[in-house]
Amino acid sequence: MIKHSLKRIALFASGSGSNAEKIAEYFTSNPEVEISLIVSNNPKAGVIERARRLHIPVLLFDRTTFYDTNRITQLLIDQRIDLIVLAGFMWLMPGGLVQAFPNKIINIHPALLPKFGGKGMYGHFVHEAVVAANETESGITIHYVNEHYDEGQIIFQAHCPVTPTDTPDDVARKVQVLEHEHYPRVVSEVLLMNNE
Ligand code: GRF
Repeated sequence: MIKHSLKRIALFASGSGSNAEKIAEYFTSNPEVEISLIVSNNPKAGVIERARRLHIPVLLFDRTTFYDTNRITQLLIDQRIDLIVLAGFMWLMPGGLVQAFPNKIINIHPALLPKFGGKGMYGHFVHEAVVAANETESGITIHYVNEHYDEGQIIFQAHCPVTPTDTPDDVARKVQVLEHEHYPRVVSEVLLMNNE
């Protein structure tokens, strides 16, 4: 039986899942919010092991199921998911899924959009581009998700300095600190906003 007031989150992740874990930890002591599902396209992703440790059910799927059927969308509807949180999820959201969850899908990007976004701009590619462009700052962008990479409305940004001697790894470390610090709280604020 699903409790009516309970807010249910599905976390999508393709990689290590450090953000997914921070978000799960943030809500452990909150009886109003449940991480109902960790969804992944990658059976080898670190996030799978984290989910097991956190006792969160995992849903794995392949490209055909995701893009050529509405099975995933239907499952998220059936499970009464209130918010879909992308945390290092590598695939573009299919149109049907975006339409079924308007303003209920958010993503985090490891740079200050609209700079350094779009197809192919993920992980170390982002930080390499930031350093190559001699940027003096980088940061994080949390935004709503539409059918295009990194183009949905921006919800929140946080900045960090980039010094002339910083390597892409240095920038990645600074950005990850910001991600872990802000993403869980912003997720909870979006849940509250959606409730009003
Ligand atoms: C983060 O840098 C996030 O901004 C990006 O993918 C990365 C995921 O890292 N979208 P992790 O798997 O949460 O450690």
